[in-house]
Amino acid sequence: MKQLTDFSRIPFGVMPTPLYKLENLSREFGKNIYIKRDDMIGVALGGNKVRKLEYLLADARDQGADVVLTAGGPQSNHAMLTAACAARIGMKAILVLKKRGELTGGNLILDSIYNAEVRFVDTDSYDDVYAEMDRIMETLRKAGHTPYFIPVGGSVPRGSLGYVGCTQEIAAQSQALGVRFDAIVSATGSGGTYAGLTYGAKLHLPGTRSVGIGVCDDPFEDIAFELMTGLKELLEADAPVEKEDIHIRFCIGPGYAIPSPEGCAAVRRLARSEGILVDPVYTGKALAGFFQLLEDGYFMGEENILFVHTGGAGALFAVDLLPEA
Ligand SMILES: Cc1ncc(COP(=O)(O)O)c(C=O)c1O
Repeated sequence: MKQLTDFSRIPFGVMPTPLYKLENLSREFGKNIYIKRDDMIGVALGGNKVRKLEYLLADARDQGADVVLTAGGPQSNHAMLTAACAARIGMKAILVLKKRGELTGGNLILDSIYNAEVRFVDTDSYDDVYAEMDRIMETLRKAGHTPYFIPVGGSVPRGSLGYVGCTQEIAAQSQALGVRFDAIVSATGSGGTYAGLTYGAKLHLPGTRSVGIGVCDDPFEDIAFELMTGLKELLEADAPVEKEDIHIRFCIGPGYAIPSPEGCAAVRRLARSEGILVDPVYTGKALAGFFQLLEDGYFMGEENILFVHTGGAGALFAVDLLPEA
């Protein structure tokens, strides 16, 4: 089997990210609840995409790319972090964003600080966005550039390597703390983080269940299976990819990127109990889904649970929370 060190990687993040117990929430729910602070990863406002971009932009550099293109919604954390990481290595970033949602503030401010070129496509479909990206790449090639394409969320097996790395970090931190995690819970938006955590858990955290909370209604079981199969191939690993390892629940509310009452309540609850910020689009909804599972007895017999905070703070400054009930 290959090791992560066999793959090119640019160390953008400050790792290991902190992992510690949330004392107040643990008391409230009667479980040992821990948090992994990937929101404190040290680039921009933090977030999961930095781990993926370490591998993806290294691959871009190895291929001689001078421009990186990626896609997302107007408030895409992934697009913003691509701009941030690309800036660090002097690579131009072109962000092709769907013209739906919040078109000012939040991550768009950061995109411009990082000097990314932002192009909007007036559509609801990523097919149109990808078609536009093809056109842009063709033009770039004709002008002598070498573009590198990263799909939405950086959710390709090479990007998911970053979350296999995260499970290695968790294994070391869990050993240092003397705690074995029964389950890890994370937000799922395009599937790459979950796939990396789940296949990584299989390799490095035996006996730890990986639970993904979908914040949009994509078929994440299938997406995760496919990405995990790609990871297995990339790593030349023996550990089989099994459907039984995939545990997806949903907490979407009225729709992707539309604030939900329970998501907004979770944002406030975590802020007021632990001082930590989550956002109303990804981590707030994932946390709300996690709280619901705790209340439903889903973790019966499981005592030590880790919530992976995947970032997203930029959305707090673009998407209004619903008023308090
Ligand atoms: C803050 C945040 N958390 C979680 C996710 C989900 O990660 P993934 O796209 O790898 O499923 C995303 C992006 O989609 C995100 O921006």
